[in-house]
Amino acid sequence: MFPDLSSLSAQLFERGRKVMPGGNSRVGVMMEPYPIYAASGRGCRVTDVEGIERIDYINNWSSLIHGHSNPAVLAAITDQAQRLLAVGQPTLVEIELAELLTDRVPGIDLIRFSNSGSEGVLMGLRAAKAFTGRPKVAKVEGAYHGNADPIEVSVAPSPTDWGDAHHPATVAATDGITRGVLQDSIVLPFNDIAATRAILEANKDDLAVVVVDPVVSRMGFVQASREYLEMIREVTARHGILLMFDEVFSFRMGYHGAQGEVGVIPDITSLGKIIGGGLPVGATGGRADVMEVFDQTKKPLRVEHGGTYNANPMTMAAGLAAMQQMTPEAYVRLAGLGERLRDGISRVMHDNGLPGRVHGVASMVAMIFNDAPFSNYRELPLRRREAEMIYALHQHLLNHGVTIIPHGMLLLSTPMTEDDIDETLAAMDSGMKLLAGAASA
Ligand SMILES: Cc1ncc(COP(=O)(O)O)c(C=O)c1O
Repeated sequence: MFPDLSSLSAQLFERGRKVMPGGNSRVGVMMEPYPIYAASGRGCRVTDVEGIERIDYINNWSSLIHGHSNPAVLAAITDQAQRLLAVGQPTLVEIELAELLTDRVPGIDLIRFSNSGSEGVLMGLRAAKAFTGRPKVAKVEGAYHGNADPIEVSVAPSPTDWGDAHHPATVAATDGITRGVLQDSIVLPFNDIAATRAILEANKDDLAVVVVDPVVSRMGFVQASREYLEMIREVTARHGILLMFDEVFSFRMGYHGAQGEVGVIPDITSLGKIIGGGLPVGATGGRADVMEVFDQTKKPLRVEHGGTYNANPMTMAAGLAAMQQMTPEAYVRLAGLGERLRDGISRVMHDNGLPGRVHGVASMVAMIFNDAPFSNYRELPLRRREAEMIYALHQHLLNHGVTIIPHGMLLLSTPMTEDDIDETLAAMDSGMKLLAGAASA
């Protein structure tokens, strides 16, 4: 049973804390009172160090779209490892993955690879600044785009410092971001067309790029309205500002990416997660003339993009094998399972008399124990009570064979079946019965 302070995971956490601040190297894996340590994974299930198996809806925060030990990905990695682990030369497999992605994503004529979504975003920002010669970047309040300084602002600001609703303050999301950086980062109110237009117009001469994620994971997968995206596209095009879609997460939305689904084409796209087949990856793609800033055959070189592990053949081979399996049919099947899960969670919530809504699209699912609709960060109904209910459910699920992201996010993988979804819903039902009982006691 979790939590159990005598468990092997609890002991490993204590051991890790002696050599790493916080016990490990990644803030997102922390869980109170200790994280559960994983030992192995197969298909849609992961087994912990004590041999307990759970259906995995974390999927390494989305990157494992084929779950664990996908046979084609494993075969590609094994074959590649036997031939060439890493090398200080380019390889064929990098071209093959680049061809696949440039074929599929409408806004990507050319692409460069790196090793994390954060780097994919960072290089997109730098390319935009180099291309336009302008200093500022804009992002929406409440969105997360990785840990590059200019974009790690106003990710989860609090009412005490978030400023005017129509003109949000730029709030550092972490210590260590300097005033100079904050001055060049502009924050937009998500889905507020008039206010966003006014901010863009007011900054038109200084803005290099507007970064938008069409489906914001940190906001319960709330989607940008088509009108909002079309307005930003129109204003940016008119003023020579570049539009960047951060599809590191939302590339799950469809075969042609989120941009293919929403029908608005950005100048730059950052990618990561699923395109690496489970290995570390990031990418920056975009219009040929913008991407030319990275062209090291041109002198003078405008943006130097190096990286010991950029496009390393292991990641490229894994990514190619993973993405080749993501056919249009695979996206449709996964979206169908997502719908079954969203409908089922909603039904279970309401059958148990609990308030709540289930959000998301395709294989991305988010649940909130609150009926209130929302379309931007400030409307998010994330009060203490909702957080406590989700956390209690998450803990119940851990003890009933299911692992989800502790604040109520679930990502699906292709090895999942309807039976797995129904098993999950049964665990949700028993958990929500307990929550409903506690609420009425
Ligand atoms: C939308 C978005 N952009 C960028 C990133 C950063 O990617 P990475 O964690 O690979 O650096 C993430 C990570 O969750 C993300 O969700």
